[in-house]
Amino acid sequence: MTLPVHTAEATPTPLRPGPTPARAHLLSDDTVEQYRRAVAAGTDRVARRIAEATGPFTGVRPDELAPQVEAIDLDRPLGDTTAALDELEDVYLRDAVWFHHPRYLAHLNCPVVIPALLGEAVLSAVNSSMDTWDQSAGGTLIERRLVEWTADRIGLGPAADGVFTSGGTQSNLHALLLAREEALAAATPADRRILLPQLRIIASAAGHFSVQKAAKLLGLAPDAVVVVETGPDGAVRHEIARCRRAGLTVMAVVATAGTTDFGTIDPLDEIAEVCATAGVWLHVDAAYGCGLLVSPTRRHLLDGIERADSVTVDYHKSFFQPVSSSALVVRDRRTLRHATWHADYLNPARTVAQRIPNQVDKSLQTTRRFDALKLWLTLRVMGPDAVGELFDEVCDRAAQAWELVAADPRFEVLTRSQLSTVVFRWRPSGPGPDLTDAANLRAREALAASGLGVVAGTKVDGRQYLKFTVLNPATTVADVAYVLDLIAEHAGRYLHEHVPAADLTCPVG
Ligand SMILES: Cc1ncc(COP(=O)(O)O)c(C=O)c1O
Repeated sequence: MTLPVHTAEATPTPLRPGPTPARAHLLSDDTVEQYRRAVAAGTDRVARRIAEATGPFTGVRPDELAPQVEAIDLDRPLGDTTAALDELEDVYLRDAVWFHHPRYLAHLNCPVVIPALLGEAVLSAVNSSMDTWDQSAGGTLIERRLVEWTADRIGLGPAADGVFTSGGTQSNLHALLLAREEALAAATPADRRILLPQLRIIASAAGHFSVQKAAKLLGLAPDAVVVVETGPDGAVRHEIARCRRAGLTVMAVVATAGTTDFGTIDPLDEIAEVCATAGVWLHVDAAYGCGLLVSPTRRHLLDGIERADSVTVDYHKSFFQPVSSSALVVRDRRTLRHATWHADYLNPARTVAQRIPNQVDKSLQTTRRFDALKLWLTLRVMGPDAVGELFDEVCDRAAQAWELVAADPRFEVLTRSQLSTVVFRWRPSGPGPDLTDAANLRAREALAASGLGVVAGTKVDGRQYLKFTVLNPATTVADVAYVLDLIAEHAGRYLHEHVPAADLTCPVG
């Protein structure tokens, strides 16, 4: 195809168009005052809500809130920041779930540090995109320094590299893509079709479900993920041997440093030894446990992580960063080529020879937020030790919470976490396990509906348990005790409503 070529003769400088109502909303040198005012007004609303929150949630139900959101006519703008913020109070801020509140004890969401919020404000206004140098410049170098810093903390060695991602799910997918490609490196296209269904991933039983999702996305067989109890009993070695006897290829072992429910850490050094001997890619999912990288007292819990081929690190779980902030870090930067694609319009192959640092060459994403700025400002303002102290505090608090629950005859508690979760359940004497399950489930729902506390739930051996994930250093033992009393009260009430009084031996609460 031949495209017409236009040659411009003396191009006159265009006159700058005057302001129009639409343009008044664009950030430009004409509108910086409006930008300052709008962002300050938004910050003020959030600050007020945070200062006034008496609980982590209002307990609003979807059927209560949905009509208000539905009623808004998106084709009829309010035209005014104050009016839009007033409306936002009703449809979002008033009923938001506040992770900074000390009685938010549910999922892996952390309260956020202020330097990171500053980073968030700056990065969205500048709006750099991390795919190519010509869309980010210094942002690229800052992200690279942070990847290098993280790899150094892990101890991955001089050839390490990586890239920021949207979260642990993406980091795990990315790692397993690299592992798959390494496993198939010598395969012809015909071999690939035969080998793909024979690939296996061995993962810890309590590992994250994103591994299963990744296997599906990577075109592996439905039974490609083999889960094992990764205790120090050679289970991974046995499973690799079993797969090989069956003619299967283990493309990766995924060890977890901080399981989502139990906060446990697989025996990394032992698993690394097995992988090294067998020549299998070791991925460590440290989405949760990565806070230990900066812990002044608990770094040793990650010993062995330095032997991994790839590591997932979620700063938005245990570095007190706003969502999103995550990275995939690899031992050998050459493996990142498996995610490289050169597009003439964006990152032509010649830019590699020109040593232009285009992060898109390593990333699964193209346009990508400059999330690294949040961590950068966190490290530059607070420093890593301060972040590690905060993470140590939540681990200490979870240990205290565990002791509190363990000493309380109303509850049973499972294994003590190496990080900051507590898995437990209300245990009345008398009713059978099904009713106990229902009472625990109901207690969790009723607690959230009351807005006084939020806890998580999970199943262990088919039974309903409750879970504290402590990620807020401001949570006190008294907060935990208060929430336990509320749970016992709700569960006891449920039981009394569903069981004849004569069959009950436990009081309400
Ligand atoms: C161990 C682990 N890995 C991966 C993930 C997924 O991370 P994200 O939610 O950031 O995608 C989680 C989320 O809880 C997790 O706990």
